[in-house]
Amino acid sequence: MDISVIIAAAGSGKRFGGSIPKQYRQIDGVTVLEKTLNAFCSFKEIVIVTGDPMLTRRIAVRWLNKLRAEKRVLPRIKIVGGGAERQDSVYNALAEVSCDWVLVHDAARPFVSSDVIERVCSALENGSSAVIPCVQPKDTIRTKEKTLQRSELYSVQTPQGFKTEILKAAYDHVRENGVSVTDDASVTESYGIKTDIVEGDYKNIKITTQEDMPMDIRVGNGYDVHRFCEGRPLMLGCTEIPSTRGLLGHSDADVLAHAIADSLLGAASLGDIGQIFPDNSPETEGMAGSEILAKTVQMISQKGYTIMMVDSTVIAEKPKLAFYIKLMRDNTAKALGIDVENVSIKATTEEGLGERSRDGIAAFATCILKG
Ligand code: CTP
Ligand code: MG
Repeated sequence: MDISVIIAAAGSGKRFGGSIPKQYRQIDGVTVLEKTLNAFCSFKEIVIVTGDPMLTRRIAVRWLNKLRAEKRVLPRIKIVGGGAERQDSVYNALAEVSCDWVLVHDAARPFVSSDVIERVCSALENGSSAVIPCVQPKDTIRTKEKTLQRSELYSVQTPQGFKTEILKAAYDHVRENGVSVTDDASVTESYGIKTDIVEGDYKNIKITTQEDMPMDIRVGNGYDVHRFCEGRPLMLGCTEIPSTRGLLGHSDADVLAHAIADSLLGAASLGDIGQIFPDNSPETEGMAGSEILAKTVQMISQKGYTIMMVDSTVIAEKPKLAFYIKLMRDNTAKALGIDVENVSIKATTEEGLGERSRDGIAAFATCILKG
């Protein structure tokens, strides 16, 4: 039995908020859309309906390449532009469906299990024309006036399964009659088709608001060292520290800012500071640590991450830093755009044991990001 899958991914995620629609946010290092696609990788045809065809194509190509590397049979992927409402998007996608049966699934439900998908497909195989997975609400539900009978209530999930020709005819019918719906079984129902129910899964939630997103916690570490040199100011933690000598470097040689930037890039898997701010380019010549930090924050936030905290240690025999630590924390927090409470800077010597802390200054940093 050949079944096409429509992935509805053309929403703008207003209730979720933020600059990136929720289907492009990351969970465990992959986009929500890609995680959803994974659940349907064994199907013959997948029609993705999207508001951003270019980005969707990139995600789809990367996903297909992964499947290819795993020597899997590749699904046929079609990418279609979405409409103003979900029902307009699904209608557009339906025109591209070529199998006799079709599943319609929200891109925003990346946790769907193969069991739920199988139950929906089995119902279609057993002759159902319209089937939906449901769970019973855990809370008591009421209107303003009265409490509803919980045992009669269902939360409706996707994927919803249909005989393609019936769903197409039903969509034509609701469009002709201007009916507004939020799921596909309502479309077939308003066309007079009975809906069958199979067991859904409480984990198969639709990501709708921020709380629905599992927190993506990332940890990064960074290390840098610069040699002392005469005739330059000593910059540490975006702060000029009174000293008889500074540090050698193409930028302002703020070794602490560099270690912190490297930890941030590492946590977001964005490479390292040498790649992003090469030490042989005119643009980075004399670049302040604060600017490197601000640019790094911009890059990680473009990937959807914010900084939870930064901890760091400067290793220096001289100068003594205790007096300046508070100012360094303030300035570093400002450059990072976070509260000073979330920036820790410590200093230590190496008890005169190493050349490293005698001939220069080193710094270690650890950060935690959340996605
Ligand atoms: N969807 C769609 N086309 C639309 C609206 C929604 O394909 N015009 C998709 C969404 O991308 C999502 C699914 O339908 O995967 C369920 O919709 P919903 O949770 O409402 O997502 P959004 O519409 O993006 O969110 P919001 O309503 O908060 O704006
Ligand atoms: Mg919506």
